Amino acid sequence: MNWQAASTYCWVLFFSFSTSAKENLETPSFQPGILYQYRYTLDSQLIALAKPSLQGSKLRAEALVDVKLLWKHPNDGGQLLLQVQIHNLQVHHDLGEKKSQNLTKSQSVKASLTEAEIQQPVFLHWNNGKVAGIYVDKAGSPLILELKRGLISLFQMQIHSGTVSEEDISGSCQVTYTISEKTVLKTKDLQNCIRPKFGFSSINKIFGNLWQPTSKTHYTVEGNLIKSALSKESHTISLTLKSSVGVNITSRQHLELVTQLPGSKELPGKGLQEALAAVLEKPQLIQITSEPSKRICATCPKLRTYLKKHARKKLNMDFSKASTTWRFGKVVRMLRDAKKRDILILLKEAPEEMVSFYVEAAVAAQSTASLTALTEFLDFRNKKQAPLLEKFLYAAAFSPRPSKELLQLVLSKLNEKNLDPDIRETGMIVTGSLIGKLCQMKLCGLQEVRLQIETLVQNLKSTKKVSEKVINLLSLKSALIPSSIPTFLYYAEEGFADVSATALSALQRYSPQYISNTVKMAMKRIFHQVQKPYSKISRLAAAEILLDNDPTPMDFINILLATREIEPEMSRFLLSKIQGIVHSHNHPNRQVIKDVLKDPQINNYYFFSTDVGSSISFLRTLAVTNDSLSTFGLELLFSGTGLLRKSTTSFNILSHSHQLQAAQVVLEAKGFEGILGGGDVADEEDDFMAGMSAVLLDVQLRPIVFFQGYADLMSKFLMSTGEPTSVVKGNVLLMDHQQAIPLQSGLQSVVTLQGGLGLDVSSDINMNMWEQELKTGIKTRGALTIDFQAELDAPFFQASIKSQTEAEMATNFNTASKLSDNPVLMCLQLTEEQVSYREIFTVSESSVNHSTTVRKGRKNTIPGREVPLHQANSEMCKILLSGSREQ
Ligand SMILES: *[C@@H]1O[C@H](CO)[C@@H](O)[C@H](O)[C@H]1NC(C)=O
Ligand SMILES: *[C@@H]1O[C@H](CO)[C@@H](O)[C@H](O)[C@H]1NC(C)=O
Ligand SMILES: *[C@@H]1O[C@H](CO)[C@@H](O)[C@H](O)[C@H]1NC(C)=O
Ligand SMILES: *[C@@H]1O[C@H](CO)[C@@H](O)[C@H](O)[C@H]1NC(C)=O
Repeated sequence: MNWQAASTYCWVLFFSFSTSAKENLETPSFQPGILYQYRYTLDSQLIALAKPSLQGSKLRAEALVDVKLLWKHPNDGGQLLLQVQIHNLQVHHDLGEKKSQNLTKSQSVKASLTEAEIQQPVFLHWNNGKVAGIYVDKAGSPLILELKRGLISLFQMQIHSGTVSEEDISGSCQVTYTISEKTVLKTKDLQNCIRPKFGFSSINKIFGNLWQPTSKTHYTVEGNLIKSALSKESHTISLTLKSSVGVNITSRQHLELVTQLPGSKELPGKGLQEALAAVLEKPQLIQITSEPSKRICATCPKLRTYLKKHARKKLNMDFSKASTTWRFGKVVRMLRDAKKRDILILLKEAPEEMVSFYVEAAVAAQSTASLTALTEFLDFRNKKQAPLLEKFLYAAAFSPRPSKELLQLVLSKLNEKNLDPDIRETGMIVTGSLIGKLCQMKLCGLQEVRLQIETLVQNLKSTKKVSEKVINLLSLKSALIPSSIPTFLYYAEEGFADVSATALSALQRYSPQYISNTVKMAMKRIFHQVQKPYSKISRLAAAEILLDNDPTPMDFINILLATREIEPEMSRFLLSKIQGIVHSHNHPNRQVIKDVLKDPQINNYYFFSTDVGSSISFLRTLAVTNDSLSTFGLELLFSGTGLLRKSTTSFNILSHSHQLQAAQVVLEAKGFEGILGGGDVADEEDDFMAGMSAVLLDVQLRPIVFFQGYADLMSKFLMSTGEPTSVVKGNVLLMDHQQAIPLQSGLQSVVTLQGGLGLDVSSDINMNMWEQELKTGIKTRGALTIDFQAELDAPFFQASIKSQTEAEMATNFNTASKLSDNPVLMCLQLTEEQVSYREIFTVSESSVNHSTTVRKGRKNTIPGREVPLHQANSEMCKILLSGSREQ
């Protein structure tokens, strides 16, 4: 391109740009001496997503709006002061039958007060179509102010295309203008508006809401006169885990110029303040951004009343029943509004069996009063309180949105001298969990958090005891903050077997973005034992980390080649994992691995033809819904003599790209060869022990040692009652969410979500020494309740939709093994019992003279089933079960 062509090109560009910018529209304005009268219509609807037949709630309001120019900047004609006044308001609403009422005549004192306040004018400082400030005489009722903010927001526009940041009732938002001949289209990106904080939400987004808002406003402008504005907005809010539970809130504002009448003259005065002083006694500048407020619940139960009726009562507490979980939610809400004194009375006077229920509720309530009451009530030096303290600590760890105050409370209690060692261990792990959650809330910089992380790292360095190191690592694992990765790497490579295994189990929980090349190099050194030998458990964990995090073809080939040299059970385990990845539909590294296996030089599938060993690693889909995928994973690693060395069972949920480790149970057994006389004792791990470590709802629990050493086994075996032991029993607040949705129309919506889980997990182990049979069973019974509520509020109208969902379920996970056979026979069974499910919708609305409530429900049961595991397992079950029948 030569210079001339280039400059022509530039001119063409310039002209096309300038013509498109000159879009025949003039900056909107108002003339003095004219009263512009608009008709203003507001429509709003609240509809339950799952039950459109229930209609929901509809509201329509009509009014007249007068606009007058009061003042114009003497040197800047774009700056105006406008008086905007709403009058002749009429409200219609319907739920089923049509209802209509006029608020023009005073139907009740309240209505007429509202009416008078609505008619108070607002004064808009308008700068070339943008809202520069709004003024009123008295701030008045919040909901009426909102209505005025909504109307004023409609007066904000510009006449050239482009994306700008604008502040209106929705907050400070990105707004895109598209101009065509006489119309202006304004599209607001509601998802990213900035506004003052209101409400709260659960840290794990899986327990939150999906929110899809849209907002569009069309303006017609003639000359410089706004002829009409039509704004449409919708918000779909639904549960992340079940998007059919939710609401659609729509709102429509329509402003249309009806007439122009002779009006008053422009006010004298040079400045804006002078002009304002002429019309307002005490002009008050109010912010344009919505100031949401929560409805005060007059009918909600009060702790004071509850204390009189129920405090000393022993209530029926079956944690697997939805009724108990509902009660838990109710008590939590009650405690949120209660005084410390009353909460302390409740904790002190409750019957012994009920105390832990109230402690869990007080932690979940997380108000200053409830935390202070707990501080006074809990006594960590009191040995009798030990079970209660563990419940308190776990309740803190399960908190869906812990606060700094909760962390401080836990830390202050743990600083007491002479703590029970188990409580101290639980406390350390729980602290890690709290730190992790606070960091996810971007509170990692808090002094308490930083100090605690430093202490953990310091303890790790200073302690010589393996068990102590393991607990410190578990605490850091619970926090799962990226800055701990170098610490984990160090202990993975340098620590003793248990320390290294714990550090590696922590690294396994990080998402791929954190598994850097440094981590991968260390994993290769561990798996291939480049510098020193490692335990089987560590080597396999290192290999799993490599396989799960974008392995290069070379890394994969090296692992594959190693499977020919390592011990058969380890090899079997890895090959089983690789096969699982190849056969999965969505493993991210599936293709790399398939490509390598296709390469004839690698001698491909020959690797998988071996049938030595019984170890396995597999992942099954348990259930798929529109919103979630739940999986069941099982890993079994047998020792060289065919005894179970380690089993890992995990249940995971994936929903809208958020994850939850619902449960993971790791059972470990070491050194059994010695007592059963089965073959040679494994060289590296000769101490005889069995233990369990579990993760529940992303929270690591304190590891439990069933027995350590032969004498311990015998004494526990002799003392065991054969009764199942309780593992977890109690209530957890899973979902805790409150969100304000300011509608552009000035109606206000608040969405709240509260979800509770009641759990009763018990386990039993039966060992028949003579038959050498071992049976274990984990029984999980639970109830889930979800209370979803959306409220829509206007000064003259209130509506709400409530969806209450409950489910009761139970699963059993049983294993049976015959240790006398070689290889050991082992059968696993996972059964899900019938699930009962119930959903109730309530729509209610009320206004000055009217109130209705409609309720509808549905019920469902899902039949029980046995979850198919894997082929080899079914065969072993057949042999084992038929064998026991013969006896
Ligand atoms: C409300 O007022 C309008 C006139 O402003 C009247 O036509 C209408 O009948 C009234 N409606 C009721 C229900 O009173
Ligand atoms: C919500 O309502 C808006 C407006 O009526 C509609 O466009 C949208 O499709 C609705 N969304 C759902 C999920 O029903
Ligand atoms: C899943 O989504 C499809 C399409 O969006 C819908 O037709 C179906 O009813 C949904 N299923 C459930 C169980 O919600
Ligand atoms: C409002 O309720 C009162 C008392 O029930 C009744 O007397 C009045 O007529 C009602 N007004 C309207 C407009 O329905």
